[in-house]
Amino acid sequence: MDFSMRAILLLVLGLVIGIIGTVNVVGALNARNPMPRAVMVTMNYHLGALKQAIKAKQCKAVDIQRHLARLQSTATDIVPVFGMTEKPFLDDAENLQTRLQHALQAAPSDCTALTAAIKPVGEACKTCHQRYR
Ligand code: HEC
Repeated sequence: MDFSMRAILLLVLGLVIGIIGTVNVVGALNARNPMPRAVMVTMNYHLGALKQAIKAKQCKAVDIQRHLARLQSTATDIVPVFGMTEKPFLDDAENLQTRLQHALQAAPSDCTALTAAIKPVGEACKTCHQRYR
């Protein structure tokens, strides 16, 4: 094997090791703090359940109240879990809180009321995602 061949092989080997290392580091970072995504996935589950209820035309006040309460309480984890201090992020998180508070207070007991109640909530999710996701 001549010198240039060996150099190319070493280069390729180096690249492969580098790529594997990078993937592992990213994986390890995600595994170390699963909370940001856990909070989002949990909120998504409860909002999804409410949308599903609307689709199925089965909007029961007790279930609605439970999912809204879970959403509202989970949303309080966003700021501490993400550890973000940027003002727009804090504002978006607070905006979501306020809208969930209003949705809870409205106590929707049918699908029409529920649709109206979660519309601003979905918009609050979207606003932050457009900026930060
Ligand atoms: C204050 C900002 C903010 C608000 C408000 C917000 N999100 Fe997120 N969301 C994010 C960020 C940032 C990510 C990307 C997180 C990551 O990948 O580490 C994200 C990611 C997600 C994900 C993807 C999770 C995954 O598996 O990677 C879902 C689903 C989600 N959000 C749902 C929601 C829902 C539903 C709402 C509203 C009830 C909401 N989010 C409100 C900032 C926000």
